[in-house]
Amino acid sequence: MDTQHPDLHPLFAAHLDVLKQRSDSALARGGFDHLVIPSGSLRYQFLDDRDYPFFVNPHFKHWLPVTKAPGSWIVYTPGRRPKLVYLQPADYWHVVPDEPAGYWVEHFDIVIVREAGDARAELPKDATRCAIIGEENAALDGFAPNNPRGVIDNLHYQRMIKTDYELAMMRVASKIGARAHRAAEQAFRAGESEFGIHMAYLAAARQTENELPYSNIIGLNEHGAVLHYHDLRHVPPTYSHSFLIDAGASFHGYASDITRTHAAAEAAEFQALIESVDAVQKNLAGQVRAGKDYAALHVDAHHQLAGVLRDHGFIRMSAESAVASGVSSVFFPHGLGHPIGLQVHDVAGFAADDSGKTIDRPQGHPYLRMTRKIEPGAVVTIEPGLYFIDMLLAPLKGKPQGRDIDWDRVDAFRKYGGIRIEDDVVCTSDSPENLTRDAFAALDKA
Ligand code: GLY
Ligand code: MN
Ligand code: MN
Repeated sequence: MDTQHPDLHPLFAAHLDVLKQRSDSALARGGFDHLVIPSGSLRYQFLDDRDYPFFVNPHFKHWLPVTKAPGSWIVYTPGRRPKLVYLQPADYWHVVPDEPAGYWVEHFDIVIVREAGDARAELPKDATRCAIIGEENAALDGFAPNNPRGVIDNLHYQRMIKTDYELAMMRVASKIGARAHRAAEQAFRAGESEFGIHMAYLAAARQTENELPYSNIIGLNEHGAVLHYHDLRHVPPTYSHSFLIDAGASFHGYASDITRTHAAAEAAEFQALIESVDAVQKNLAGQVRAGKDYAALHVDAHHQLAGVLRDHGFIRMSAESAVASGVSSVFFPHGLGHPIGLQVHDVAGFAADDSGKTIDRPQGHPYLRMTRKIEPGAVVTIEPGLYFIDMLLAPLKGKPQGRDIDWDRVDAFRKYGGIRIEDDVVCTSDSPENLTRDAFAALDKA
């Protein structure tokens, strides 16, 4: 997507109007006059002058697509144009943040400062009238983030519903991710190591590790059974039976989060299992509809995956009893997914309303990240999986339900690690928009 495309101007203008309305109501609720958002400050390694990678305050990048400008601030006062206090230090050691440019600039009063401390004079005088949302270390001379709970809860609740501008950004993030996934699959089929696959991914995404929305998970064989596997072995295994890749991309501050699992050409039994999980995944993604309870969808995922376990001969009990006895959780030990947007695990998945009230997870599902009803404009991931995890399988062997497991079949699949298939799905007022599948389909057409 051409980011200077004229269509982004009206999209961004409409996005800002929505942010202003949401902020007006959040400030009114909290009793504040100004919303003030620092981009964040660099952090340094202990006893060293080396800074950690900078990750911008998500509230800041909600207002404008600037992710690499520490020490900057946004000030919004209802009824006024938002102000950007932009730190461009005089510095010949480092790259100084770019001149403000692009479709967003015309909407802000921009003041450039050369020293971080000079921003204070550009912020409202009375800090007590400000909702200041940011990290502690952004504080300037008595002007410190207060992060009022009521304002944050309200903004977070509203943030679940994406504007058309945000959806446009997420479509691009999905396209970049899909393109890089294709390159990674090719590297797997060429016999590359995990490290080699990772490098192929970064090159195709044209993003550094720190630009990605999260660290890539690239696991060959049994490494697919480690849910957050980040080891990246430099040497390929003797034989690569399977490949699980969970990797996303960023665009203008927005994330994609995509998982695919691939089988080696002759691993037909594993390929068949992947196809069954894929069918479940598509079914669940098709249920991302207005009014759907995400927690209920997660429980539905357990039932469908237990059916797959039975169909493929891993369990002999019914799907119902596999779910009721916790057997399905041995093979599917994480949540169905989460909200996604400015953060890969976006906020307010448990929100019952805009006042901070939350909805508990269903009992027995401690890793679920969303219990909220799905509404039009929400974007969620749908990421069911089945894994062969030694640590979870071992205790099952000693339990009565262990007698209804075909252990020989389970043992034969340990070398494949596991399967996860993850798409990012938009709820609309009609059928869902699958950002991930659309992005892969566009590559097929190209
Ligand atoms: N990539 C992290 C997740 O899928 O939630
Ligand atoms: Mn995810
Ligand atoms: Mn993921």
